[in-house]
Amino acid sequence: VERLGELVPAGNAAGIVLIADGRAAEHWGEAAEASLSSIAPVHRLLVESGEPSKSLSVAASVLESMSKLEVRRDDLVVTLGGGMVCDLGGFVASVYHRGIRVVHVPTTLLAQADASVVGKTGLNLTSGKNLVGTFHHPVAVISDIATLGTLGERELLSGMAEVIKCGLACDPSLLSTLEVEREAVLARGPETLEEVVARSVEIKARLVFSDARDLSGERAMLNYGHTFGHALEAAGDYRRWLHGEAISVGMVFAAELAGHLGLLDEEGVSKHRGVLNDYGLPTQAEFSLVELMGHLAVDKKRRGRLRWVLLEALGRPVLYEEVSQADIEAAAAEVRA
Ligand SMILES: NC(=O)c1ccc[n+]([C@@H]2O[C@H](COP(=O)([O-])OP(=O)(O)OC[C@H]3O[C@@H](n4cnc5c(N)ncnc54)[C@H](O)[C@@H]3O)[C@@H](O)[C@H]2O)c1
Repeated sequence: VERLGELVPAGNAAGIVLIADGRAAEHWGEAAEASLSSIAPVHRLLVESGEPSKSLSVAASVLESMSKLEVRRDDLVVTLGGGMVCDLGGFVASVYHRGIRVVHVPTTLLAQADASVVGKTGLNLTSGKNLVGTFHHPVAVISDIATLGTLGERELLSGMAEVIKCGLACDPSLLSTLEVEREAVLARGPETLEEVVARSVEIKARLVFSDARDLSGERAMLNYGHTFGHALEAAGDYRRWLHGEAISVGMVFAAELAGHLGLLDEEGVSKHRGVLNDYGLPTQAEFSLVELMGHLAVDKKRRGRLRWVLLEALGRPVLYEEVSQADIEAAAAEVRA
């Protein structure tokens, strides 16, 4: 964070708008602002931390502030915070004056490994999450592993679920690293964390750039564990489970489903439970299947179909659309607490 002044590609920006998450700013805001001000005058816009800030009304008020500050087309938006602020700040940058440049400085593991990377922005509507959004690639993403030092334990582990997802679904060698280096990761050893973040980003970037607008199957592989996980998050009103926790249970569900369909062997299924348990992530949950089916039906209606990412082996994902109610019930029984 102290080196943002050297690292941010500011081009001919005459001003910088720092859109910062309140809690991230408590720890890192001053250092970021001090460093960025070596490039151009910085206007800090603070956003209250928490998912409710990812709304049209907060986006509108940030846009109004930018306009009052006379932010110009050549100026730069820098976001500081987790996935919430990346999504909100990315959205605002994508529509202000029909799009100005944005640099993300993600400060949660989830945002460093996942949310900041691929240029998707998002806001929530009352009827659901991420229903408004744009594609707007950041000109740079600058992840300082030191910022993870101030992150709460639950947030760190939730971010690990996305890293473990990359290992399980796309890269068995990353999975082995996560198994071997577990203690160093959990102790937030900077070198180990840097390695696992960098490898997750590489995987995500590779899949996403082969499928830039989210249309073919490649990008969908990153949704491993997300179909069931999203339903669980929705059933918990987005309060009970952090995203990564729901995805963790979702991945065990997907493994059980793949096992039930004869795709994935027993060893592959138990590997899921083993590594997620080792990282203190949930592998089962209390839920009503009827309620989850309701959320899955909404998802299906919205997207036109339900797609399940399942594994044929660790690191070998396939897309499945034909999954029966009986298959879902069988897998759900294995993850119900
Ligand atoms: N655009 C994408 O591709 C994409 C992908 C995945 C997730 N997301 C979005 O990301 C969001 C979740 O991201 P998240 O888990 O980072 O949540 P978040 O941004 O809400 O951050 C989690 C908590 O950590 C705090 N925080 C952030 N940095 C901190 C730091 N360094 N020290 C102490 N506290 C800190 C925040 O104030 C917040 O309370 C969701 O809105 C999700 O939809 C987007």
